[in-house]
Amino acid sequence: MNYKHKIIKALYKNIFKPLAFKMDAEFIHDSISKVGESLESCEKLVSFLLSYQDLRLKKTVLGVSFSNPIGLAAGFDYDGHLAEIMKYVGFGFNTVGTVTAKPYVGNKKPRLARLPKSRSLLVNKGFKSEGAVVIASRLDTKNLSGHTIGISVGSTNSPSITTINKAIDDYLFTFNLFKRRKYVKYFELNISCPNTTMTESFAEEKNFRALTKAVVALKIKQPIFIKIPNEINEEECDKLVRVALSQEIRGFIFSNLVKNRNNQAFDKKEIKYFSNFIGNFSGKPTVNNANKLLAHVRNKFGKEATLVGCGGVFNANDVVNKLNCGADLVQLITGMIFEGPQLIGEICQELTSSS
Ligand SMILES: Cc1cc2nc3c(=O)[nH]c(=O)nc-3n(C[C@H](O)[C@H](O)[C@H](O)COP(=O)(O)O)c2cc1C
Repeated sequence: MNYKHKIIKALYKNIFKPLAFKMDAEFIHDSISKVGESLESCEKLVSFLLSYQDLRLKKTVLGVSFSNPIGLAAGFDYDGHLAEIMKYVGFGFNTVGTVTAKPYVGNKKPRLARLPKSRSLLVNKGFKSEGAVVIASRLDTKNLSGHTIGISVGSTNSPSITTINKAIDDYLFTFNLFKRRKYVKYFELNISCPNTTMTESFAEEKNFRALTKAVVALKIKQPIFIKIPNEINEEECDKLVRVALSQEIRGFIFSNLVKNRNNQAFDKKEIKYFSNFIGNFSGKPTVNNANKLLAHVRNKFGKEATLVGCGGVFNANDVVNKLNCGADLVQLITGMIFEGPQLIGEICQELTSSS
């Protein structure tokens, strides 16, 4: 670790984090988003302090160039405020969203909380979004040339979306809006569906086929990555991968949040405290199944599939584990919140020193 990362890590762990973790998690997140966006005027300084660049980390995946294999996962930058600054924080790519066609104010608070002993976050935003049009106009004003930006697309959380066909139209609106924007280098298709009025799920084969068919018909040039649910078995996973590959969609992200509170990674006392809170969980509890599915798909489908490992990355070792399971790229959120913003540069440096 270099001296800049050491100093920032010490400041983060000994001063910022103990204070911030005493305050409301969503308030801190919103404040960081505001400060982060205002730092666009000092990108060089941010990059000097945090990022680590090395040409050996460069990768081209599905025709897209990545300055390093570590990306920001969907859910940290819902509305694109941080789209420009994240490259200077050190990320090789960053996802905006999940973006939905129409705005949604989000589920009732509290909808974000920390579980430090379990190295996890509780999330219940329900696809909070300012809506695709507002987000696209915000991104249009940013200087994103040379950045690798992805848009995660989901369907609006609205009681008016009651059928699969309505939800598909909702997805298509957002894809159509972004597909010709030059700064969009890849898409994520988020198939988790928080709608309360729609009982069907896009993780069901029939619905997933209808959705992917409709998306592919838009003739989108950018590659699409399917965000795979975490708590599915290998058979269910194979069905989704086969359907996607049959439509020439080659990218998969393993994976999303977990629901099951009996997951062995939870500290028992800590998870009990949250028994009255609704939500799903990130971080350590996601690791085992995400890595298992990742390795399974790599073994079964070989190079036909392009894989992103996501979930519970807190250090370079966690990244190496995902690469060894077959990941081409890796994404994170929770690790950065627990370890500090130097984590990405720190990981990149360690990856080059071990290569
Ligand atoms: C606060 C928060 C919000 C999230 N929102 C989304 C989302 O809108 N769309 C999505 O595909 N994943 C979302 N996720 C899941 C993450 O993208 C990722 O799959 C998961 O957190 C595991 O990675 P991590 O352990 O590095 O956080 C969210 C995660 C967090 C922590």
